[in-house]
Amino acid sequence: MSILFDKNNKTYTIHTRRTTYQMQIAPTGHLLHLYYGRKAEGTFDYLIQPRDCGFSPNPYELRHQREWSLDTQMQEYSGSMTGDYRLSAILCATAEGLRGADLRYARHEITAGKYALRGLPAAFAGAGEAETLSVTLADEAVGLEVELLYGVYEAQDVITRAVRIQNTGAGVLRLDKVASLCLDIPFGDWDLLHFHGRHCMERQSERVPLMTGIQTVGSKRGMSSHQQNPFVILCEHGASEDAGECYGIMPVYSGSHRTEAERDQMGAVRVVSGIQDEGFSWILAPGETFDAPEVLLSFSHEGLAKLSQTYHRFIRDNLCRSKFSNAPRPVLLNSWEACYFDFDADKLLALAREAKELGVDMLVLDDGWFGERNDDLRGLGDWYVNEKKLPGGLAPLIRQINDMGLKFGIWIEPEMVNEDSELYRAHPDWAMTVPGRGPAMGRDQLVLDMGRKDVVEYLYRVLSALLRENHIEYVKWDFNRGLADVYSRVLPPERQGEAAHRYVLGMYNLLERLTTAFPDVLFEGCAGGGGRFDAGMLAYVPQIWCSDNTDAVERLAIQYGTTFGYPVSAMAAHVSASPNHQTGRSTPLETRAVVAMSGTFGYELNPAQLSAVEKEAIRDQLARVRRYDALIHGGDYYRLTDPRDAKRVAAWQFVAPDKSEALLNVVVTHPEANPRPLHLRLKGLDPDAMYVADGDERTYSGAALMYGGWTLAALFGDYPSAQLHFQKV
Ligand code: GLA
Repeated sequence: MSILFDKNNKTYTIHTRRTTYQMQIAPTGHLLHLYYGRKAEGTFDYLIQPRDCGFSPNPYELRHQREWSLDTQMQEYSGSMTGDYRLSAILCATAEGLRGADLRYARHEITAGKYALRGLPAAFAGAGEAETLSVTLADEAVGLEVELLYGVYEAQDVITRAVRIQNTGAGVLRLDKVASLCLDIPFGDWDLLHFHGRHCMERQSERVPLMTGIQTVGSKRGMSSHQQNPFVILCEHGASEDAGECYGIMPVYSGSHRTEAERDQMGAVRVVSGIQDEGFSWILAPGETFDAPEVLLSFSHEGLAKLSQTYHRFIRDNLCRSKFSNAPRPVLLNSWEACYFDFDADKLLALAREAKELGVDMLVLDDGWFGERNDDLRGLGDWYVNEKKLPGGLAPLIRQINDMGLKFGIWIEPEMVNEDSELYRAHPDWAMTVPGRGPAMGRDQLVLDMGRKDVVEYLYRVLSALLRENHIEYVKWDFNRGLADVYSRVLPPERQGEAAHRYVLGMYNLLERLTTAFPDVLFEGCAGGGGRFDAGMLAYVPQIWCSDNTDAVERLAIQYGTTFGYPVSAMAAHVSASPNHQTGRSTPLETRAVVAMSGTFGYELNPAQLSAVEKEAIRDQLARVRRYDALIHGGDYYRLTDPRDAKRVAAWQFVAPDKSEALLNVVVTHPEANPRPLHLRLKGLDPDAMYVADGDERTYSGAALMYGGWTLAALFGDYPSAQLHFQKV
């Protein structure tokens, strides 16, 4: 049993392999948070010493005990308007104008297995893999019940959190904020590690000390966003890759989100995470419930690498439902940077022939195959083939490609519509726009209101027909602008605050139905590159296009930041042409391949423009991709350097779970004359085993490679790279 309830002191204790989580019902009925950290026995109620710190109110029944205030107690899920002035986890109002939530214990339940959420992606568990704790808190004055859900994965060191709200009153209840998680951390000096960015420069890591006050990471774009990824880590000031305490907080949500960290007057920290509350409201009729998205919580006392590895494994094994999650992926050649909108059937067949000759598994036809889509000004929404480009439709093209021994994949952007499209002309009301106001445009397109059942039904019908009628084995699901004019024509005025979340639920509904109906199709997420790279999408799709930036040197920082939360098997990465189309930079083909190999591998170039030598090099790359596939996608990932630090060396490593082999990757981003020795220490090996590097006869102990390290031969030229494979002997 990983969840224990001690009736005597009313304490819940959750143990995972390396962590302990504890909470206690206070005499007032408030649920206090006692501890989350390294595994330890004991009851942690002795840690918080009540004292009167002034201007912190007391609950009515303790009005003479000035030292007991909700403002200074650690709480499991803060209410609002209770005299706790720190971050509120919930804001609500009754029809009579009663606001606030004073949450007291009502009941609890411990069950085998993992809870599920309605309409939302959530982690799953195999038999015996997880237990669920449900603790219900209530505010009778408001008519509100808050069910706190904990999915405990003992072996994985992950606790999932979610919240279900019920209106138990007689009238309507409006929710203005519902956090999925509140986590109070009473002591310590913490840094916030988060992943910001912009289009083409996603998930740049930034580490800042938590200031006194509130720091926020969030998005109001209706998408998890290029700008602020919904994953944060709180780590001790001194925490490194290998040592120190860190907490990971990962919302399983792809829409507007918000994670706030507040360091309060006493130096304690509260983290509150969930749906973005700006613009959000949700109306519950009596008896109705609302499920807030899940958050994946993990803690490591052994530094950041361990925390990342926990998330990597958990996403692969317990979140992503695709049968491809742990399977080798086809190596694909994508048509986008090869020919953009400029193609016809002959050109695609030529591309396919070249791809086959190189040893690629699949041709992916990107944007431009449908409607009048000859540029990015028109056609979105018209998901029927453009027969001027592809006479006879997709079927004959796919047949010829399959006959060459290649699979075929396709690009779609279902949630969007261009004004210049048949779909928009037929259903202008399906687009999200504010009546009477010109909508904000993005890439000349509008967003369909995915909160509408008719829109989702239409898309399911046309897309399932596309997949049924054609032998399509891969779908790249794109999303190329954020939401701005958030207004739904099917919602009454008082429910307009629901539109953005209903959008996400509709999008998940479509994804869920399509991925369930077509389990053999490999789906890849995309949003102008990595604008919707989050755990919500990864519940449905095993891989996401990491960035529209395919420059190998820039990709180092993008992929580095991405690995803090997400597995390499989720990061789509391609070798593209040089000079690079986004930066104009020239890099060696080998370096581009080494970088792209730390992802789901593919090419995004026109092979006809390659020399014979380059084609031979690609055949060698493909041999390595296949040889190292299990090691790269199933191994433990180690960041050996920050590619942006002063030495300008990017190094990272994979180790097989049984430590039988390892792959070391190095790229020098600023070669110097007369360079200092390039020395690295390997990680994660078996210290007592002997290893041999490919092409070498000498053997080295794991201990030698980890503690003594490895000195690489000097690398010369523009952006040189090295890839070294070590095998246990
Ligand atoms: C987005 C994607 C690209 C490509 C284009 C097509 O920008 O990220 O990879 O598919 O759309 O329009």
